[in-house]
Amino acid sequence: MPDIKPVRKAVFPVAGLGTRFLPATKVMPKEMLPIGDRPLIQHVYEEARDAGIEEFIFVTGRYKNMLQEHFDYQPELMKTLESRGKDEMLEKVRDSQMPEGKLFTTRQAKPLGLGHAIWCARKLIGNDPFAILLPDDLVLNGKGCLAQMMDTYNENGGNVIAVKDVPREETNKYGIVDIGKENGNVVEVKGVIEKPAPDKAPSTLSVVGRYILQPEVLDYLAAFETGAGNEIQLTDSMAKLIGDQAFHGLKFKGNHYDCGSRLGFIEANIAYGLADEEIGNDVKQIIENYGSNDSKAA
Ligand code: UTP
Repeated sequence: MPDIKPVRKAVFPVAGLGTRFLPATKVMPKEMLPIGDRPLIQHVYEEARDAGIEEFIFVTGRYKNMLQEHFDYQPELMKTLESRGKDEMLEKVRDSQMPEGKLFTTRQAKPLGLGHAIWCARKLIGNDPFAILLPDDLVLNGKGCLAQMMDTYNENGGNVIAVKDVPREETNKYGIVDIGKENGNVVEVKGVIEKPAPDKAPSTLSVVGRYILQPEVLDYLAAFETGAGNEIQLTDSMAKLIGDQAFHGLKFKGNHYDCGSRLGFIEANIAYGLADEEIGNDVKQIIENYGSNDSKAA
C-alpha cells in the first residue's frame, strides 16, 4: 500500500444561485438558510472540522460575503452575552468562529457548474488530496459523514465518495455509480454517470455531496467540458480518474437530507428539531397534533 497522504483541506462550493428558494435567496445566500439553530454552511463546517480538516476553502460569488462573515469573531456580541451571563449562548457563538488563518476564499464569477467551482479552487488545493462538502446535503448521525469517509480513505487511499440507495424511478435526478466488488459498506466504484434514465442506470446507488478526491481530478476539470444540464459537472471528471486510481463508495451511516429542495429542507428541520435536546419533545408534540387534527395544530 503506497503512503496515504492525509486530507487536511476541504472545499465548500457556495457560488450557486439557489433558484429553488427564490425569493428567499434573492440577496441572502442559500447556504445561510438555517436548519435548527445554525445555517447550512455551519453544519458542514463543523462536520469537516470534526473529521480533521484544517483548511476551509470557500468558492464564493456575488452576494455571498455573509458566508465568510458568519465565521468571524464578534467582540461586541460576545461582550454583551458575557455581561448578561448567557454562557450557553456564548459557547454557541464561540463554536461558530473559525480559528484565524483557516478560511480561504476564491471566486467563481459565473455559476457554470460544480466542476467549474472546484476548478476555481485549484491554486488553494495545490497537489494535495482534498474533501468537498456540499452545504445542501446534510447527514444526521453521531459520527459525521466525512469522518466516516476518512476511515475508508485511511484504509484504502485513492478517492472516496458518499453513496446512498435511491428508488430506481428517481435515478435521473442524481449521479449514479456503477459498482464492482462490495466489502461491507464499502463498494468499488467502476463508473459514475450523471442523471441516467431508470432503465440505463447501472445501479441505484446515488452520489451524495461528500467527496475525498485526489488532485489529478483538477487536470480533467481544466478541460471545461460541459455535461448534463450544459454545466461543467464534477461527476464527468471524477469518472475519468476511475481505472487509474482506487475509487470507493461508502454507504455511510445516518439519514441524508437534500436541503437544496424545499421539501428536503422542511424534512431536515423536522429531523434536526426532533433531535434537539431542548425542543425535541415539543417538536414531536407539534407533529402529533398535525397528524391527528389539523385545526388543533393551527
Ligand atoms: P446546486 O445546483 O444544488 O445549487 O449546487 P444551486 O445551483 O445554487 O441551486 P438551485 O438549483 O439554483 O436551487 C450544489 C452546491 O454547489 C454550489 C452551490 O452553491 C451549492 O452549494 N455551486 C453550484 C457552485 O458553487 N457553483 C456552481 O456553478 C453550481
